[in-house]
Amino acid sequence: MIWFLVACDGAPSDSAEVDVFCDEAPVVTWDNFGQAILTEHCQSCHASTALDRFGAPESIAFDTLAQALALKDRILAVTDPEGRSMPPAVALEEIDYIRLQIWLTCWAE
Ligand code: HEC
Repeated sequence: MIWFLVACDGAPSDSAEVDVFCDEAPVVTWDNFGQAILTEHCQSCHASTALDRFGAPESIAFDTLAQALALKDRILAVTDPEGRSMPPAVALEEIDYIRLQIWLTCWAE
């Protein structure tokens, strides 16, 4: 639990901090988390097959792991609770933002 409080300050930036952060982190992957969260909260507008994109750029889609990884820095930037712009209406739960950080910082290849 202490770990989660620390993690709320944001993912570490230098590589030594990343090692510590990731050593303590649970296994979070596309299969056990990433695909589901992006499908539930993002793909209604961003999927290549979305019926109505509400203006979301066609270049931003999360249909595949490769597409998500190519955009990982943008995903973390736009969902950051401080300065969030996505999803536009309702923010992700804080715990889910932390899981996104763990997945994209520690487990995403
Ligand atoms: C209700 C529709 C909708 C949902 C849901 C949505 N987006 Fe978007 N998204 C947009 C629109 C419209 C734009 C283009 C306008 C803009 O950039 O604000 C956009 C732009 C973006 C961009 C490009 C802008 C940038 O700053 O890089 C990213 C990345 C993005 N969205 C990620 C996400 C993620 C991640 C989620 C889910 C956590 C999400 N979006 C959910 C509609 C949506």
